[in-house]
Order: sequence, then C-alpha cells, then structure tokens
Amino acid sequence: MSDRKWTDKQRFDSKASEWDANAVRAALADAVARAIIAHLPVNRPENGLEFGCGTGLVTLRVSPLLDRLTAVDTSDGMLVVLNEKISAAGVPNVATRLLDLSLSGTASQLEGPFDFVFSSMTLHHIPDTEGFLSLLHGLMAPGGTLAIADLDAEDGLFHEDASEKVHHGFVRQRLKEQLEQAGFGFVSFITAHVVEKKTREGQISSYPVFLVTAVKPQH
Ligand SMILES: C[S@@+](CC[C@H](N)C(=O)[O-])C[C@H]1O[C@@H](n2cnc3c(N)ncnc32)[C@H](O)[C@@H]1O
Repeated sequence: MSDRKWTDKQRFDSKASEWDANAVRAALADAVARAIIAHLPVNRPENGLEFGCGTGLVTLRVSPLLDRLTAVDTSDGMLVVLNEKISAAGVPNVATRLLDLSLSGTASQLEGPFDFVFSSMTLHHIPDTEGFLSLLHGLMAPGGTLAIADLDAEDGLFHEDASEKVHHGFVRQRLKEQLEQAGFGFVSFITAHVVEKKTREGQISSYPVFLVTAVKPQH
C-alpha cells in the first residue's frame, strides 16, 4: 500500500450535510445498528467507544443502550451534524471527539478503558488493520466486546471515486486471524446487510456487509 493520504477528511467534510439524505446509506446504517444492538453484551456497557461515527446514524441508535459513549471521527463536518443532533435531542451521554485514532499517540487522549467498542463502515478507511486492531485491544477493558461492521471483499467499485484510498473490503477468515493476533477471542461473523447499488461503472452490484464481534479475554 502506498502512503498516499488515507483519511480523506475533506471528502467526508464535503459530504456531511447530505450524508443522511442518501437512502442506501440510511438503510445500511439501520441494518448495522440493529445488528450491533442484537450483539450487545448482556450486562449494560458502561463506557462505549465508536470510531468513525460520522453524522451519528448508528451512534444515536446504540447510545441509549450504553451508560456513556465517546464518538470519534476525523471529519469535523460530520461531527458538526452529529453535534447538532445531540443538542437538538438533548442526548445526555454522547461526547464527540475530533481524532484520528489511527495516528500514534491519539489513543491516549481517550478516557478508557472501554467495555464496548463499535464501528460501521470505517475500518476500510484505516490503512494498518493489524496495528489498529491492536490499538483497540489496548483501549478495551478485559471482557469488553468489539463489534465492527464493514464490507466483505469487494470488486473495488464500491466507492464512487476511484482515487479514494481504501481497503476493498475484508476476507472474513483473514480478519478473524488478524483479530486473534491482536488478542481477541470468540470471533464471530454475521451478514448484517447487503448494499445494492449502481457502481461507478454503471452496473447494479450487491455488496454484503458483515458484523464481526469479538471479545477481549478476561486474562
Ligand atoms: C463511510 S463513513 C461511515 C460513517 C458512519 N459510521 C455511518 O455509518 O454513517 C466513515 C467515517 O469514518 C471516518 N473516519 C475515517 N478514518 C477515520 C479514522 N482514522 N479515525 C476516525 N474516524 C475516521 C470518516 O470521517 C467518516 O465519517
């Protein structure tokens, strides 16, 4: 992978005000939120973390089920939209943070440990998957649950802009191995949703989205 800029903040800033109006995205976020809620730990999580929260489509569905949630994103445009929703609805337990978690040193700015970490459609924007999963493991409390939704391995046409630097989805078995190498156990996948969309080459394609859950062992 080249080291060309991965976290394209400007791209997400420019899309933020229109983000929620896209029906394909809204349906995906709805399906992912339902899948994450179905996989919440039995005991109500006390301290949650979401990376790549965007405008909060998943965030505000999950947050009522946690005591408190830190919602992190690299795009201040996306966070402006989420902060407006938080203010308008008087959401008491969500704090947003403008932070690139994939950069070394930034994780120490968060108030962990976290007993529930989740994300939707963001892992493929982070270049070093293995390093990032280790970082998440370090942020989590023993016994904590991780829930990540993202694309299965795709044909490289999912994103409209061919120059966008992303992983083209993930092979489940490989991601399972990477999670286990990072120290997680009880790794399990479901298909949370299938995105049907017209690609930038004009054909309608199906893109399955998995939810992988894993647990940081107690010892
Ligand atoms: C495809 S969007 C998904 C947003 C939201 N989760 C949703 O489902 O609508 C990916 C989000 O991840 C954010 N992002 C990308 N790289 C990031 C990083 N290293 N740390 C935190 N957020 C990141 C982007 O700014 C963007 O808001």
